[in-house]
Amino acid sequence: MRAIRTRPLTGLAVLTLAAVAAVAPLTPTPAAHAADPVVVLSSTFEDGTTEGWRARGGESVTPSTAAAHSGAGSLLTTGRTQSWQGPTRDLLAQLQKGTRYTLSVHVRLAAGEPATRARLSVQRDTGGTAAYDQVVGATPVTADGWVALTGTYTLAHDVDALSAYVETADGTAALHIDDFTLSYVPAKPVQTDIPALREVLADDFPIGAAIGMPQIIGNHATLLRRHFASVTPGNALKWDATEPVEGQFRFADADALVGFAADNGMAVRGHTLLWHQQTPAWVFTDATGAPMTPTAANKELVLSRLEGHIRTVVGRYGDTIDTWDVANEVIDESQADGLRRSRWYELTGLDYLRTAFRVAREVAPTAKLYVNDYNTNVPAKRDKLYALVAQLRAEGVPVDGVGHQMHVNVAWPSIAETEAMLRTFVPLGVEQQITEMDVSIYTDDSQSYPSPPAELLRTQALRYRDLFALYRRYADEITSVTLWGLADDDTWLDSFPVARKDAPLLFDTELQAKPAYWGVVDPSRIDPTPSPTVSPSPTGSPSPSPTPTGTPTPTPTGTGGTGVFSCRVQYAVTGQWPGGFQAAVKVTNTGDRPLTGWTLRWSFPDGQRITQLWNGTYRQEGATVEVGNAAWNGRLAPGPGVDVGFLAGWSGANGRPGAFQVDGTPCTVD
Ligand code: XIL
Repeated sequence: MRAIRTRPLTGLAVLTLAAVAAVAPLTPTPAAHAADPVVVLSSTFEDGTTEGWRARGGESVTPSTAAAHSGAGSLLTTGRTQSWQGPTRDLLAQLQKGTRYTLSVHVRLAAGEPATRARLSVQRDTGGTAAYDQVVGATPVTADGWVALTGTYTLAHDVDALSAYVETADGTAALHIDDFTLSYVPAKPVQTDIPALREVLADDFPIGAAIGMPQIIGNHATLLRRHFASVTPGNALKWDATEPVEGQFRFADADALVGFAADNGMAVRGHTLLWHQQTPAWVFTDATGAPMTPTAANKELVLSRLEGHIRTVVGRYGDTIDTWDVANEVIDESQADGLRRSRWYELTGLDYLRTAFRVAREVAPTAKLYVNDYNTNVPAKRDKLYALVAQLRAEGVPVDGVGHQMHVNVAWPSIAETEAMLRTFVPLGVEQQITEMDVSIYTDDSQSYPSPPAELLRTQALRYRDLFALYRRYADEITSVTLWGLADDDTWLDSFPVARKDAPLLFDTELQAKPAYWGVVDPSRIDPTPSPTVSPSPTGSPSPSPTPTGTPTPTPTGTGGTGVFSCRVQYAVTGQWPGGFQAAVKVTNTGDRPLTGWTLRWSFPDGQRITQLWNGTYRQEGATVEVGNAAWNGRLAPGPGVDVGFLAGWSGANGRPGAFQVDGTPCTVD
């Protein structure tokens, strides 16, 4: 089941993007860097056999020359009496756990059959239980032409049997398939020469990722361990996963994910104990098997089911999960009282929330209990959420925190609105977390790019830069920031709100760092493509004469080393807009004595104030700025030098600092 909802993709957002497009036409990113796929299996049906394909159950599968996508032959399936029947091929010998494969097959209905929709799926069997993973969803097919079904699949479970199959969403039409391929692109190594997100952000908050089984094996696990301090099971703790049938709990996937986190010293956010989605129908079915109506008896029954569910799920992970999204998405700002008319609400009023928080607190007394929602930046929704949390806390309901999902996009919302969101909840005395952040490259449902245009990736990087700069300023309020996924190869936005390839995270489909990653870690390394709206060179204000404040004490050269230390500083304003600018500062050791740990100092001539700095730590007192090295660039050896970047505010003039010192040694400036 998918979450279906619309979010306000404002006219403004669309206009903004259109304006960008008008000055800088969107061009697809060249795919030249991608390695060639390796084909593991192909079925062309040219040799007059079924090439290992068979029927799923009772229908008939035969080689055919009545239609062919290429060559002369295809595989025809006839005699279907159920929509799930169709051609299937064992893949156990070909498909390795943890590798991401592309499956592709061409489908055409037999002559005379009415149009329908076809699907491509994988069946996996473990210990006698079958599970079905959809690779390509219901796609229109006809008898008039071939349609390619192409999708990706990663086997993340141990299996006894595994097969791909084609079926129809409805009807029993006879169908041809042809030119099936199973291929994979050899994985690129996980980068080890870039800073770990968890370390870059360590002083501010733990950084987390939503994960499923594919993320805890192979390269995904390596990437996850390296960069993240926290995980959220994306689906494995939801009600439909943990208690699909009343009283029958299933924790195989959740145990594996939580166990991985525990083994690797990661925190776990428990998501989610109650929601209006992904909740099995039995929860709201009365004793006679009918959908519940709001009666006293049904209220009692549904609350006791809620209590039982929470006792079991929270009880299982009591020690290892220290934060729970107890309630997910309970606000509807279009209601006068702000409360979503979910089945929970219809049957119990606010009592479902009172019960859920009370029981969760009883079972996990030290866990932080959250109410989590999307669009909490939208003022109307934010304020309704505030009112609910204030009311519940006033009643003594143990709500400890507010989770902001932050499913946002490259043009929405503004930083100011996001800051207002955070500021609003401060007086309540609750913790806040960013719980499901992703930044879609799309601003309306009609857009679709097979691979993300470079300009959009750059815009996205600037959004990540600005949003993380904001979060870091609110690090006293924000106790964790979680991204809704690990890398762009596996994101829920590929199917929500419409099916298309999205790229909302910090790592690309090959697990490599994107410009967005650098937006968080070091914005000076965002793809330097000049943007027409940003001036690439320092602006024309005349450089005033240097006024170094706080006379530095020169470090005697030679201390702690044999040679002489001298330095050069290059200072460039890389972008400027009304009230703000971005600058890059490069420090080079031009002497022959390396420094271990360094401090760079300068004074601004025009009252500029730094708001964020990367690749170092900073202090600003009045006009004087002191920048210390970051953990990874403390060694300043003769040679290429280190780069620092910052964002700052200015007004009136934005003159360059005239003098720089490293550890008290004046540097040459250019
Ligand atoms: C999404 C999952 O990522 C998908 O795999 C699933 O099909 C639907 O739910 N808000 C939430 C999350 O609170 O639970 C949703 O997760 C995304 C929106």
